[in-house]
Amino acid sequence: MATRHFLTLLDLSPEELRYLIQRAITIKNGLKTHGPTYTPFANRTLAMIFEKSSTRTRVSFETAMAQFGGHALFLSSRDTQLGRGEPIGDTARVLSEMVDAVMIRTFSHEGLEAFAAASTVPVINALTDDYHPCQLLADVMTWTELRGSVKDRTAVWIGDGNNMCHSWINAARQFDFRLRVCCPKGYEPRQDILAAAGDRVTLLHDPAEAVVDADLVTTDVWASMGQEEEQARREADFDGFQVTEALLDRARPDALFLHCLPAHRGEEISETLLDDPRAVVWQEAGNRLHAQKALIEFLLLGRVEG
Ligand code: CP
Ligand code: NVA
Repeated sequence: MATRHFLTLLDLSPEELRYLIQRAITIKNGLKTHGPTYTPFANRTLAMIFEKSSTRTRVSFETAMAQFGGHALFLSSRDTQLGRGEPIGDTARVLSEMVDAVMIRTFSHEGLEAFAAASTVPVINALTDDYHPCQLLADVMTWTELRGSVKDRTAVWIGDGNNMCHSWINAARQFDFRLRVCCPKGYEPRQDILAAAGDRVTLLHDPAEAVVDADLVTTDVWASMGQEEEQARREADFDGFQVTEALLDRARPDALFLHCLPAHRGEEISETLLDDPRAVVWQEAGNRLHAQKALIEFLLLGRVEG
């Protein structure tokens, strides 16, 4: 089987992505019913390279490998030769000689692509400055579990045109739902990513208008990792873009709210939004585990029926 990477949602076909979502739900149900008895990865290893902080991504990948009977190696750029300038391609070749797959969280998406080009084992994007596709697997899984097929539904992105926003745009393309992206002027997503999605994705600047009759509303922090020094300016520029219970009231009565987390209460969301029953962020976070199990299984073993 040729090596497959997962650098963006566009690396898998729409049909493969739909398979992954259903497979993730099956894996989750199997874990609930039988416990962690499905162990297809005995003695297999996943290298996890982190150049940025993480709670959910690290714990979900590490737990996925442990429950599957394998092992995950946490590699911080601070402690590896990557942090001392060993070329990324050399690192990819060395890891390919030893481990079965590599997961990377880093800054530059081009750096990730360079790593994948040199790797002979599957490489998974665990967040770059431009994309966070693993989060979208969990997000679409959560939406599907709670509301059925997402095709032709309407999601609304409120906030920064960042890595999460780009992955929501790609998800709209691949899963064929409508997406309204609502950003302050100057914080729009990349024009090429937006344009490639065609008329499924529309750009707005007024949150009250954007959320009307939406099936799902989502947001993210105003300053992403690496933008910490812009925090004060962004707080001013994003004034009026906080997602509140009152804003959600303008969406459909059965609308859901997602947030990849970590959340900043009092900034991009109200102090109490995560306590609202429309917010399903804990289920969303938990689904990182199941969705990534389905992803690793697919990249290493191909399709598994049942
Ligand atoms: N949502 C997400 O990726 O969380 P972490 O940064 O904690 O991994
Ligand atoms: N946009 C955020 C997502 C964190 C999971 C960041 O890049 O920091």
